[in-house]
Amino acid sequence: MIVTTKKLFEAAYGKYAIGAYNINNLEQTMGLFRGNVESKAPFIIQISKGARSYTHKKMLEGLITSADVVFPDAIFAVHLDHGDEETCYDCIDSGFYSSVMIDASHEPFDKNIEITRRVVEAAHAKGLVVEAELGQLGGVEEHVSVDEAHAKLTDPRQAREFMERSGCDSLAVAIGTSHGAFKFSGDQALRLDVLADIQKVLPGFPLVMHGSSSVPQEEVARINAAGGDMKGAKGVDASQFKRAAELGVTKINIDTDGRLVWTRVHREYFRDKPSEFDLRPIGKVFMSEYARFIADKNQKLGSAGHLDELRKLVG
Ligand code: G3H
Ligand code: 13P
Ligand code: ZN
Repeated sequence: MIVTTKKLFEAAYGKYAIGAYNINNLEQTMGLFRGNVESKAPFIIQISKGARSYTHKKMLEGLITSADVVFPDAIFAVHLDHGDEETCYDCIDSGFYSSVMIDASHEPFDKNIEITRRVVEAAHAKGLVVEAELGQLGGVEEHVSVDEAHAKLTDPRQAREFMERSGCDSLAVAIGTSHGAFKFSGDQALRLDVLADIQKVLPGFPLVMHGSSSVPQEEVARINAAGGDMKGAKGVDASQFKRAAELGVTKINIDTDGRLVWTRVHREYFRDKPSEFDLRPIGKVFMSEYARFIADKNQKLGSAGHLDELRKLVG
């Protein structure tokens, strides 16, 4: 059942975070639904601009519609990840999405508000909700001084004004995470102190953490042992997710970890079966490993086991 992210956030706020997982193809879609239904977790499907153009934007909509039939117990939202203005309008007009993210975080404060406000007006007119971003994620390098690194984080003093003037429904905050497999090259860690300050000025308002893959070290070791080269890959400590949820984070974005599962499964499979050339046996291994990964992640997010109570709220 497709629901709005708003409904999911109302149920989760202060208690657990909902996993927001990116998909690009059939195998990810199957593993995603299976893992969430098995762990009884609500979830958010994220579709990036790159995912929309990987095959055709309508292909993913078709996959999701079919998965909804195959997995009637699933409760989920469909969300545009890191949209620009044009892509947001396309998704809003499609009638398929529950919510869009307008990512104008690279723009100056007033311009970010102006762009976000336009998208919010278009989205609300069609019953969608909008995630915006304040502050900037990125690879924080060891050579960047603490002050420079800190300048990229969300400024709690700006958060309330941003929310009120833009009208956004949830806010992605920069609290030290970055996208990809190489986070925290120095001693940096999640800035839960900054998150706590943001929650103080925005009590009850849903916050979003991007760049939250954990990059499990055993996964990296297996990839490297099977011919990969991912030395130094490092991610977010998943034991901090539940604290982040208490501090107002209702959505945690995870893409890289799923890519690592794909990479490990394929590298090991073809290393161990060099004469294999059928795509289905390996596809089955991936779907099953991906489902296992999703179910495990939902335990860490605290979202596992909440499906039945949520059904009563939305059904
Ligand atoms: O934050 C970005 C997500 O990991 C999606 O990545 O734009 O390569 O699909 P993508
Ligand atoms: P990761 O690269 O840490 O998985 O972050 C994904 C993300 O933020 C998608 O928007
Ligand atoms: Zn992101």
